[in-house]
Amino acid sequence: MKKLTFGALMILTVTAAASSAMAQDVAAGKTSFNKCLACHAIGEGAKNKVGPELNGLDGRHSGTAPDYNYSDANKNSGITWNEAQFKEYIKDPKAKIPGTKMAFAGIKNENEINNLWAYVSQFDKDGKIKQ
Ligand code: HEC
Repeated sequence: MKKLTFGALMILTVTAAASSAMAQDVAAGKTSFNKCLACHAIGEGAKNKVGPELNGLDGRHSGTAPDYNYSDANKNSGITWNEAQFKEYIKDPKAKIPGTKMAFAGIKNENEINNLWAYVSQFDKDGKIKQ
């Protein structure tokens, strides 16, 4: 009986640690997204700015934010945004999409990129946080 209780406690502890690590990733990603805010909006009511709004990015085809005037390079890149594609792109946007009009040097720090994806990918196409 004692053993069982200990096992249950362990599971609880590990779960709590994992979820707080995730919350931290999202919070750090939100801070990192400040680098994008000049040009991109995300969340409920997000509008296109210099760059397209980024809601529902996970699974979204490149160049498809409604009413945004993309470069041909972006539109024709054939990318469907997902974790791997995003991480490669944000490291060096001009290498991933030569000719893109996104004037951003990129983020090199893997940890920051992971956090940024945790933040960006949580929004559905209506800008709501996915459950
Ligand atoms: C100086 C303005 C600027 C900054 C800063 C910027 N972007 Fe962009 N971004 C753009 C523009 C403009 C485009 C459209 C590119 C095109 O059409 O060639 C774009 C396109 C994108 C796309 C492709 C969207 C699609 O619908 O295909 C993603 C993803 C993206 N940006 C993510 C980010 C993230 C994440 C950051 C912050 C780390 C960021 N951008 C910072 C201007 C910017």
